[in-house]
Amino acid sequence: MAEPEQLVVEAERQAAAAATLDELRAVRVAVSGKRSPLADARKALGGLEPEARRAAGQALNAAMASIDEILTAREAELAAVARAEQLAAERLDLTEVAEHPAHGHLHVVTQTWQELEDVFVGMGYRVAEGPEIESEWYNFGALNFPPGHPARDMYDTLYVDYGEPGTTLLRTHTSPVQARVMEGQAPPVYVVAPGRCFRQDTADATHMPVFHQIEGLVVDRGISLGDLAGTIEAFTAAYFGPGFSSRLRPSYFPFTEPSAEFDIQRPDGTWLELGGCGMVHPKVFEACGIDPEQWQGFAFGFGIDRLALIRFGIDDLRELWTNDVRFLGQF
Ligand code: DAH
Repeated sequence: MAEPEQLVVEAERQAAAAATLDELRAVRVAVSGKRSPLADARKALGGLEPEARRAAGQALNAAMASIDEILTAREAELAAVARAEQLAAERLDLTEVAEHPAHGHLHVVTQTWQELEDVFVGMGYRVAEGPEIESEWYNFGALNFPPGHPARDMYDTLYVDYGEPGTTLLRTHTSPVQARVMEGQAPPVYVVAPGRCFRQDTADATHMPVFHQIEGLVVDRGISLGDLAGTIEAFTAAYFGPGFSSRLRPSYFPFTEPSAEFDIQRPDGTWLELGGCGMVHPKVFEACGIDPEQWQGFAFGFGIDRLALIRFGIDDLRELWTNDVRFLGQF
């Protein structure tokens, strides 16, 4: 039978050799479990004389206490190691940055919209906005489209089922913002109003039922057609860069007199139709409470989406809204 001191030495050796908590649990079973040499030594006590049994019993108890102490100390050591390893494995470096982070960016139309605002703000204009759901009055009436006027038919209007039939609609252009601005502030006025417009159109390469326009309005004393032409020219140079120029062609809009279409000429000499413009009609001034004898003004409006197509060389308007990141990511 093993001496108690030997049992302690052996337990110490095995505990030190255990590298993990699991291994240590096995050591504990081996050195102090039911089938351990220690348990055998205990059973053997029964066959001893009372004197010898007491002495041997005390020695075994002391050995058991030492073994337990050794195992507990080693357990604490291994637990600390395990915890340190776990912390190291779960460590997150919150300052770590991927080498090529994938960034999104603004949509082509949003970029164009913001650049247009920048150009006009740089020319001293303020940015105004109006509602997308508009009344018949602001979209047509205040802009000198009398009820039943054929010009209304040019705008394939989407009416909203609200109030009296035909009184509420999705604005077909940004021009109603002109009337809202003039009603809300005394001249002089220098504003641009970019925004979403709606028409009952079938989507094709050059039309979308939802599209964007930017409106411009100037009201001041002594404003002439020359100011309009000069402004369009300055805008063209600022937005498209040197090598581009503009021209006005006579046209018709109920809210301007005279009215014109404006085209821009590209460096290769080709012309491109961009939008409408003209001198604010006296009837529009009157509808908005401004005295046309004292104030003159000009207005213009053109499509933002079409401008984005020109600027980025895209040939189908629908591509802008299919939301394919492989397409949009190019711009
Ligand atoms: N609102 C017109 C349209 O969508 C464009 C336009 C023409 C705006 C002449 C103007 C303007 O401000 O003066 O067809």
